Amino acid sequence: MPDRVLRAIAQPTIDHRGPAFARLAREAIDGLARVFQTSGAVVIYPSSGTGAWEASLVNTLSPGDKVLMFETGHFATLWKAMAARLGLAVEFVPGDWRHGVDPDVVTTRLAGDRTRSIKAIAVVHNETSTGVTSRVPGIRRALDAANHPALLLVDTISSLGSIDYRHDEWGVDVTVGCSQKGLMLPPGLGFHAISAKAIGAAKTAALPRSYWDWEPMLKDNASGFFPYTPATNLLYGLREATAMLQEEGLPNVFARHARHGEATRRAVRAWGLELLAANPCEYSNALTAVLVPPGQDADRLRQTILDRFDMSLGTGLGRLKGKIFRIGHLGDFNDLMLAGTLSGVEMGLASAGVPFRPGGVTSALDYLAATSH
Ligand SMILES: Cc1ncc(COP(=O)(O)O)c(C=O)c1O
Repeated sequence: MPDRVLRAIAQPTIDHRGPAFARLAREAIDGLARVFQTSGAVVIYPSSGTGAWEASLVNTLSPGDKVLMFETGHFATLWKAMAARLGLAVEFVPGDWRHGVDPDVVTTRLAGDRTRSIKAIAVVHNETSTGVTSRVPGIRRALDAANHPALLLVDTISSLGSIDYRHDEWGVDVTVGCSQKGLMLPPGLGFHAISAKAIGAAKTAALPRSYWDWEPMLKDNASGFFPYTPATNLLYGLREATAMLQEEGLPNVFARHARHGEATRRAVRAWGLELLAANPCEYSNALTAVLVPPGQDADRLRQTILDRFDMSLGTGLGRLKGKIFRIGHLGDFNDLMLAGTLSGVEMGLASAGVPFRPGGVTSALDYLAATSH
């Protein structure tokens, strides 16, 4: 977390029914809307991302509604399990955890839905468990080409503020985000950007909801208040973080992460290791998942790097446990942080006795030097 954000959070907690709070809340909401690239409604819950997942389903759908979801990785699988527990009928397209959502598969599934029984398509934009980014505009085009009325729900928990994402332009109905990744904040805030169509759907959606209900939230937010106690200090942080993204300029933020993603992939290839992401047009610029050679334990490597260099790499989740490690390059990140990160990995590979070719760091530095301006 940047010092600016930490210092903003350290301000005194004010009366959340008073005028100073109303100004803070409106500025935080407006700043967040700019990050979602929307002129529509934005909601901020005191919750983790999982809460915002649940809120997206219960505000828009009714018991037994069919939802089309895709097995892109661990988080898509968790979201699917939640949808099933809430009483939705999930059509789960199987996947190999190395690819994103294929817009052609969306087209085929929609063509098979002659009765228009699919009420929503729910997609994880950036699968944090695999380092794969799905092509949301292609999914939107598939819906439009089929003239299908399903709502489009997108999880941008690890892409928002790091990878290009446009709620309005891409015709997304509910975008789900949260505070602790590209927004450079501690955990504790869940976000939605909501289309007019989704607000319309909420009027008849019959899944039970109370805490997550958009209606009282949007009504109170209009004057800068909340229907219950908000996470006041995190809102100071959110206002500061969105100001920082605005100052840098979103296109520059996305370009910074794209450059770090490419430098990281060059390092991985130079080490002779394999990227988990199989399709170059789906490489994530927020994180890179790396397969360790067969017979090697990725968690042992992670432990060595933690013990020797005090650097914590992401673990393999679900079926990827022990097979991969993940290098995060999202949020508040610069060239020298990446250089340090990759150096820690290269030294760790040697310490842990994982077979690799030295030179990954040099390859990344060459690329960073050639593209710095
Ligand atoms: C893509 C994605 N979706 C959902 C979640 C769940 O969010 P949380 O842990 O904040 O509840 C995560 C968490 O890392 C995530 O990466």
